[in-house]
Amino acid sequence: MSNNNFVNQNIKPLNTKFNNKGNLEISGCDLTDLAKEFKTPLYVMDKETLLTMANDYKKAFSAYPKTKMLFASKALMTSAIAKILDEIGFGFDVVSIGEIYTLINAGIKLDKVSFNGNNKSIEELEYALDNDIDHISVDNFYELKILNEIAKGKNKIQKIHLRITPGIECHTHEYIQTGQLDSKFGFDLSMMNDAIELILNEYKNLKLIGLHAHIGSQIFETEVYKDEAKIVLEEIKRIKDKFNIELSEINLGGGLGITYTSNDNPPSVYEIAEVLINSINSNCERLNLEKPTLYIEPGRSLVCSAGVSLYTIGSEKTIKGIRKYIAVDGGMADNPRPSMYQAQYSAQIANAKSENKPEIVTIAGKFCESGDILIKDIELNSPQSGDILCVYDTGAYCYSMSSNYNRVLKPAMVLIEDGKGKLIVKRQTLEQLVQNDVI
Ligand code: LLP
Repeated sequence: MSNNNFVNQNIKPLNTKFNNKGNLEISGCDLTDLAKEFKTPLYVMDKETLLTMANDYKKAFSAYPKTKMLFASKALMTSAIAKILDEIGFGFDVVSIGEIYTLINAGIKLDKVSFNGNNKSIEELEYALDNDIDHISVDNFYELKILNEIAKGKNKIQKIHLRITPGIECHTHEYIQTGQLDSKFGFDLSMMNDAIELILNEYKNLKLIGLHAHIGSQIFETEVYKDEAKIVLEEIKRIKDKFNIELSEINLGGGLGITYTSNDNPPSVYEIAEVLINSINSNCERLNLEKPTLYIEPGRSLVCSAGVSLYTIGSEKTIKGIRKYIAVDGGMADNPRPSMYQAQYSAQIANAKSENKPEIVTIAGKFCESGDILIKDIELNSPQSGDILCVYDTGAYCYSMSSNYNRVLKPAMVLIEDGKGKLIVKRQTLEQLVQNDVI
């Protein structure tokens, strides 16, 4: 667990250490104080770690003259997080009216926003156009048709990218692979001529300016990015030769992996950027193409390592010779990833312990399902009821995938800034839980 590497290669947020009281702190903020003040379960985001990663993305891609950074908001969308990223120049990749509404609520314009997704509704597309979204990444033939009608009705020419499936398989969990041929997302290359003919001949309210691809998530290989850029640029060349139009934008998605446990070994953002930029440069030269504007849309790698979850340990159960379970006050509703993807996490006890007694335990959630196990077989320092448990790397796909399973309230979220915790998402209340119920 060293802090010598780049943010996505560390398990913990920057400046995480035990303070002189023996409690765990992040950027000078004592996690046990946060647990006391804001209660548990609690999502905690460290602003410095988030900004460091965001700036690393900007620096790594500054070697390419035309890069636009989008944050894949599905990883973590709250008004405060959106505002922080907007202020340092990120745009957003959104996939629903809810994500768009959150941006608007935070006072963010949609002129740096890309809307993707495989089944956007008419209502969602209308809302996006009414709010002057920059471009839509169109996923399929049905969407081309309805989007053209909507744009026509509003007397607009809407900029679009076409989402393609480049046919690349990367070694990540099956459910989070997206670029392989047998995928629900995008046009496969054999569909492209038909799509472009329709756009050029019939759908006069759509303006095709680019191609969009995304090959998967939690990726540890660099080679797949090289191939992705090559395939997308070869398609741009093919379209240029066949239709005499040169598309000026490419979006190569997100996907960079992070270090959840010491078994994970992701490349840094600098390595990924170098591979992508070299591949774009060499392929543009080889194919005699102008260098396109490059969009990158990281989700997990941008926010995940900046986030931790705090829980209070409650009951325990020891099955002699087999296993000791300790249960926390959250679980699969605030972090569904272990039960959905067998995802692994690292954790530590956050409060001072009078002695050092490491013990292998399994951390169970409080939900009514045997599969609600947060971490199997982890070494913790004599965990006892009342202790505060800090689970690392919960900044991405935890709050955004949380639910009210078992009618449990969604946790609050706190942002650490200047050594203090500031509430950025309030804990749900019982009244909010039933507010939409109709008797
Ligand atoms: N762009 C597109 C079109 C995507 O579909 C995704 C993620 C991203 C960008 C961002 O990918 P990232 O940099 O976060 O890997 N819920 C799963 C992850 C699903 C990812 C879906 N698409 C998980 O918790 O692991």
